[in-house]
Amino acid sequence: MSDRRSVVLLSALLVLSVSAFVEELDDTFMEMKEADDIWLIKFYAPWCAFCRQLDPVWHQIGSELRSLGSPVRVGKADATSNPGLAKEFQVRVYPAIHMLKKDVKYSYSGPRTRDAIMDFAHRVGGPLVRSLSSLQLFQHAMNHHDVMFVYVGATSQLKGNFSSAAQDLIVHTYFFSSTRDALPKAVSLPSLPAVLVFKDGTYFSYEEEQDGDLKLWINRERFPSYQRIDSYTLYAMGDSGKLVLLALVEENSLSEEGLRYKSLVEKVSEEHRVTYSRNFYFGFMEGSDYIEGLVMGDVSLPSFIVVNLSNDGYFLPPGAVETERHLLDFLDGVLDSSIEGQGGNSAAQRLRRLVYDIRVTLTLLFRQTPLLGSFLLCFPIAVFSIFFYLCCKNHAAGVDEDEDSTRDKKSD
Ligand SMILES: *[C@@H]1O[C@H](CO)[C@@H](O)[C@H](O)[C@H]1NC(C)=O
Ligand SMILES: *[C@@H]1O[C@H](CO)[C@@H](O)[C@H](O)[C@H]1NC(C)=O
Repeated sequence: MSDRRSVVLLSALLVLSVSAFVEELDDTFMEMKEADDIWLIKFYAPWCAFCRQLDPVWHQIGSELRSLGSPVRVGKADATSNPGLAKEFQVRVYPAIHMLKKDVKYSYSGPRTRDAIMDFAHRVGGPLVRSLSSLQLFQHAMNHHDVMFVYVGATSQLKGNFSSAAQDLIVHTYFFSSTRDALPKAVSLPSLPAVLVFKDGTYFSYEEEQDGDLKLWINRERFPSYQRIDSYTLYAMGDSGKLVLLALVEENSLSEEGLRYKSLVEKVSEEHRVTYSRNFYFGFMEGSDYIEGLVMGDVSLPSFIVVNLSNDGYFLPPGAVETERHLLDFLDGVLDSSIEGQGGNSAAQRLRRLVYDIRVTLTLLFRQTPLLGSFLLCFPIAVFSIFFYLCCKNHAAGVDEDEDSTRDKKSD
């Protein structure tokens, strides 16, 4: 008995100490906070199941940031009972994750995992442009980031443009500044100042004439050219404006064929980077659910697909892809329009997608909770039938009487 009581006490203490790391915020928040506070805030609604799933992750993030001595404070707010605060952050979905840093608001749209949210909090909570003052710091950063944008040189208009791009894009990627001396000797720079991107084991520099606006260029180049792609990443790649060549492979154990598809895409991304990286990203995706939603039909695994995320369009190879040459022909065909695009976001396609989504949702509902599914489907049908029956009855009393009499005979 006393054992059980101490367990209860212990867990109550645990909950208490854990929730102390997450502060409950309300409509007074904007007036109460200090000017240079940095906050990571989760907006929730009491009825939202996804919000509840996020609770343990949120507590963990709160306690970790606290124990790391991070300046980021963690809070949560019930958006339904604090409409003023929710409006201030333009909360439209639940849960919504936002950061507030020196009165600038940043919204998070990645996967709702501890690692991804912690990375976001570190990135946005830290300096907008991080200084790499020595070769060691540069190497250290290289080891931790797949893609790095680095400004090299003294103060200039380009640096101003770089900082203002960072202001908008810090939610997506890290920004660094460095001096010539802190970069490895092997990095050759045509002139200073310069903006470089380090990725895919190489680097290249931004050229205003050919690359256009700096911010758009950074947005286009912020993904590694080949990577594992999940639905969040694929969605985010949409505003890069590039097409994505995907090897769709099995979710758990890869078949030999799946491995071959994956390595073919990786090979093309490495060996033909110069030719295709302006127009394409490359990667592999595990499982077919997301793509089935896009193409509105079954997708066999493994397979290849090129996706145009700007308009929900897609391209399929016209024949079997056995060799690297076949894959290159596929890419060329997409670029010169000899392979016809499918899908898209025309009104007809959007209607088709709506019907498809409803069908998939109903199928899923039936599979998971057949009773509720039947109820949802049958209830309107039943109401409609009764309504229909009453109409008929009023309009054709004679038929009704006939039915009644046959029924009477049967029951006799
Ligand atoms: C900075 O951006 C402005 C427009 O936003 C552009 O006109 C100017 O050329 C840019 N400067 C440099 C050095 O890239
Ligand atoms: C991808 O979609 C955009 C937006 O509709 C369009 O401008 C572009 O031409 C498309 N790309 C290809 C290769 O079809």
